[in-house]
Amino acid sequence: MKLLITGGAGFIGSNFILYVLRGHPEVTLVNVDALTYCGNLENLSSVEDNSQYRFVKANIADSEAMEPLFRENRFDAVINFAAETHVDRSITGPSVFLSTNVVGTQVLLGLSLKYQLKRFLQISTDEVYGSLPETGYFSETTPLAPNSPYSASKAAADFLVRAYVHTYEMDAVITRCSNNYGPYQFPEKLIPLMITNALEDKPLPVYGDGMNVRDWLHVEDHCRAVWAVLEKGKAGDVYNIGGSNEWHNLALVKELLQILQKPESLITFVKDRPGHDRRYAIDASKIQRELGWAPAYDFASGLRQTVAWYIENEGWWRRVKSGEYQKYYQEQYKL
Ligand code: NAD
Ligand code: DAU
Repeated sequence: MKLLITGGAGFIGSNFILYVLRGHPEVTLVNVDALTYCGNLENLSSVEDNSQYRFVKANIADSEAMEPLFRENRFDAVINFAAETHVDRSITGPSVFLSTNVVGTQVLLGLSLKYQLKRFLQISTDEVYGSLPETGYFSETTPLAPNSPYSASKAAADFLVRAYVHTYEMDAVITRCSNNYGPYQFPEKLIPLMITNALEDKPLPVYGDGMNVRDWLHVEDHCRAVWAVLEKGKAGDVYNIGGSNEWHNLALVKELLQILQKPESLITFVKDRPGHDRRYAIDASKIQRELGWAPAYDFASGLRQTVAWYIENEGWWRRVKSGEYQKYYQEQYKL
């Protein structure tokens, strides 16, 4: 099987590539990534000489750059991880979210149709459903009600996928996952930001009252779910993925401080994110029932293991925070 992975130098994409190369000798992967601020080829340094793997620097929204790849490779499937992903950045600068998340997805859909790929897997997010009150869960039939420019752009991409299924009978599947945590997450996101700030004895900025709720899933559990959907998902369907693991942000930050043995006085309440979604919680019963997937990590050990990873890989996050990480691919790949 030959797969096109987009956004493979990011957090989830790089974990997915490492996951596939660990257990699937029958698969070859082409990783296309534009190497934006959050793309980091250092995540993949252990596999850069692996004959099953190849990296290409390109922007998914640039159809002229993408078409030769489709023409020259007989891909069986695309897994589209590439995206602008940070909600705060979408509030201050939404246009690149439309270009990558919407136009980029359309370019990939068009080429997948033209070159008759067997499957298109769109990595979407639970944020397309909007915000929940204190009770209830997002199911696959919950109406889409995105609240940020980021989630609006992801919802637009989901609608394009739906339209390609309906209009062209394309074999496409969408996954919508809750918040991921684990190794190689860019330290602008809650968990790695809090861990690395605490390690540096810097303030931990908690938005608003800290009572927003997120449903956390280990990135490896997400990768196993994506693989299950690629192999067994029903064409045209949507699959929610989640950990059934809800935490108030403040409680989670306190838990991290306890693991790190750092004082709660580092917590600093800051101005809330505009339009901040209050609660996300996923009903993942469909993927559990139909594809036999279930999370393997329990949160207590997953979180401890993640904290340990950031402690052991201090060089990785320090190079990211200082901007030095971009030199890696400039020197290694002469890009
Ligand atoms: P990330 O921000 O860590 O990585 C995104 C990657 O996409 C980077 O390597 C970046 O260079 C690349 N990219 C950006 N624009 C590009 C473009 N125009 N062309 C090619 N490559 C481009 O993101 P992530 O957290 O790994 O998220 C991956 C996917 O999973 C996204 O689609 C996101 O919406 C979705 N998702 C993320 C989470 C989460 O908790 N992180 C949860 C659910 C769904
Ligand atoms: O739910 C899936 C989504 O999870 C993905 O689609 C997004 O790409 C990903 O970024 C993530 O979105 P969130 O907005 O939930 O993640 P973030 O890590 O930015 O924030 C998590 C919560 O923590 C949220 O309620 C905002 C809060 N927060 C975040 C940061 C960065 C803080 O209180 N302080 C912070 O400094």
